[in-house]
Amino acid sequence: ETGCFTYDPGFTSTASCDSALTYIDGDDGVLLHRGYPIGELAEESSFMEVSYLMLNGELPSKEELETFSYTITRHTMLHEQLMQFYRGFRRDAHPMAIMCGVVGALSAFYHDSTDIADPEHRRISSHRLIAKMPTIAAAAYKYSVGQPFVYPDNSLSYTGNFLRMTFGVPAEPYEVNPVVERALDRIFILHADHEQNASTSTVRLAGSSGANPFACIAAGIACLWGPAHGGANEAALNMLREIGTPDKIPHYIARAKDKNDPFRLMGFGHRVYKNYDPRATVMQKTVREVFESLKVNDPVFEVALQLEEMALNDPYFIEKKLFPNVDFYSGVILSAIGFPTTMFTALFALARTVGWVAQWNEMISDPGQKIGRPRQLYTGPTQRPYVSVDKR
Ligand code: SDX
Repeated sequence: ETGCFTYDPGFTSTASCDSALTYIDGDDGVLLHRGYPIGELAEESSFMEVSYLMLNGELPSKEELETFSYTITRHTMLHEQLMQFYRGFRRDAHPMAIMCGVVGALSAFYHDSTDIADPEHRRISSHRLIAKMPTIAAAAYKYSVGQPFVYPDNSLSYTGNFLRMTFGVPAEPYEVNPVVERALDRIFILHADHEQNASTSTVRLAGSSGANPFACIAAGIACLWGPAHGGANEAALNMLREIGTPDKIPHYIARAKDKNDPFRLMGFGHRVYKNYDPRATVMQKTVREVFESLKVNDPVFEVALQLEEMALNDPYFIEKKLFPNVDFYSGVILSAIGFPTTMFTALFALARTVGWVAQWNEMISDPGQKIGRPRQLYTGPTQRPYVSVDKR
């Protein structure tokens, strides 16, 4: 044991922290947040209510939820100088590059080195991060399309505010579509936390050194960006569009099985779930709702449904225990709502900030917490004497 990480001689070091936040049973496809099944939370709850649950351990009363939501909306604005950061990026900068930069820069505006020991500072920093991520992500989109930033309207819900900051323009009123708002809020719930995944472990490892929460969340964003992790939703939709029509699916399934072909079915497989990802089940239902409501007729959904059907009945995928994960359908929905693929992982980061912040708080408030120090299995040369260059 070295603090938060246990050296696992057979494999790479694995995070084995105690945590009361999220429970996953990979074989039975169970995902619980503070004991509540993800399917029930996605159907019955709201992202604000799940945020409160993750931070405080219990579902809030009506008054507690109102107070929490009001507190969060009071932190949605960014320091005006932070808005200048965007102008340093090229217009075609990937939103995740911008998110890494701007979230890291929050350290220079909202943090003082002595603060982490103060529970009140930890609380406010947590609220600031959850509140400001929609503003930061929406501004990254606005900058990429050359439109003016839209400032928060705190009379709207958390998710409605984000939709308006993203798709609203000063020249005309913006009406939040309740079906889209509900679908996106559900997607945020599905992405809120997921135990010790790569980006959460990154946040915990960074936080274990005492680094400030803004820098730790920036590190989590960087890790999430990878196509094997949070970048998979963007890669999955690009893959579905590349397949194009159902008749091309067998060719791509054959490629995914070919050991000499690096191609993988993006949005399939999972390090922990070995039967199905309960989030994907909710996601598929949400796609139907959004497509019906928005009268979307995008062939990519049909390709996704048939690819899922064929892969789930393919002996190779059954043997390898490969099935759609949370990223397989999310891109289809986000595209139908109007987000470009480059924004998909930024939305994942927006939602996962709740989990990262809750996990960081859980770790940093543990009095026995030590700096993480993963170990290695040394495979280099044994000790040997130096040889001067004229003798080599
Ligand atoms: C997320 O950890 C989390 O909780 C992450 C996440 C979260 O909420 O934080 O759930 C979010 O990251 C979901 C995963 C998104 N990534 C993708 O969809 C990318 C495509 N998937 C693969 O890269 C892969 O499935 C992983 C990385 C997700 C999981 O990899 P594993 O469990 O380590 O599996 P593996 O790489 O060891 O593969 C096992 C076998 C291999 O074949 P063999 O070497 O045994 O012959 O299955 C094959 C792989 O080649 N395989 C795939 C495949 N995924 C695994 N073959 C084709 N297509 C795939 N997608």
